[in-house]
Amino acid sequence: MILYINSCIRKVSRTNRLAKAVLQKLGGEYTELELYKENLRPLDLENLNRRTEMIEQNNYSDGMFDRAKQFASADIIVIAAPYWDLSFPALLKTYIENIYVTGIVSAYNENGMPVGLCRANELYYVTTAGGPYDPTYSYCYIESLAKNFFGIPKTHLVKAEMLDIAGNDAEEILTREINKLK
Ligand SMILES: Cc1cc2nc3c(=O)[nH]c(=O)nc-3n(C[C@H](O)[C@H](O)[C@H](O)COP(=O)(O)O)c2cc1C
Repeated sequence: MILYINSCIRKVSRTNRLAKAVLQKLGGEYTELELYKENLRPLDLENLNRRTEMIEQNNYSDGMFDRAKQFASADIIVIAAPYWDLSFPALLKTYIENIYVTGIVSAYNENGMPVGLCRANELYYVTTAGGPYDPTYSYCYIESLAKNFFGIPKTHLVKAEMLDIAGNDAEEILTREINKLK
C-alpha cells in the first residue's frame, strides 16, 4: 500500500500537484490522508499520559495507535508539504507526533539504540517553495527520522522552487519538474 500523507492546505496547492505526479509515476493505488481533514491534535497532558501508560503495558489496541500502525505497514510513503517558514506546516509535525509510537514505528535494542519497525523501503518528500528551497528543517529532518528511527532506508526529495519570485513563471517551473518525473 502506498500511503500519501497530504499536508497541503490550499485548494490550488502546487505541492499537491507535484505529489500527484510522483504518485502517478509510482503507479498503483494509494491511500490518501488529507491531514487538514483528520482532526489531528498535538499531544496534550492527558493523551500523553494515557499513551505512555499503554506503551509501558505493551498494549497497542487503543484507536489512538491506528495512524501509527497504518504508517508502519505502508510499502511506500509519499509526503506532500509546502515550504513554510523554512520548514513545513505544523499539521505535519502534529501528524508525526501522533504516529511516532515506540513499539510500532520504532523500538530500542538492548544497547538503547533505535531500531526501525516500518515496512516501507522508500519515502518521497515532495515540496514547493516560493523562493530558494533549503532542506535543513524539512526534508533533512524527515530523512533523519526515516533512516535513523523508522527503518526506511531510501528517501527522495522532489521539489519545485522559486515559484513566487517576481518575473518567474510558476506554471512553467512546475510543469518542468513534473515532466522530469516522466
Ligand atoms: C505560511 C506560509 C509560509 C511560507 N514560507 C515560505 C518560506 O519560508 N520560504 C519560501 O521560499 N516560501 C515560503 N512560502 C511560499 C510557499 O512555499 C509557496 O508559495 C509554495 O509553492 C506553496 O505551496 P502550495 O501551492 O502547495 O500551497 C510560504 C507560504 C506560506 C502560505
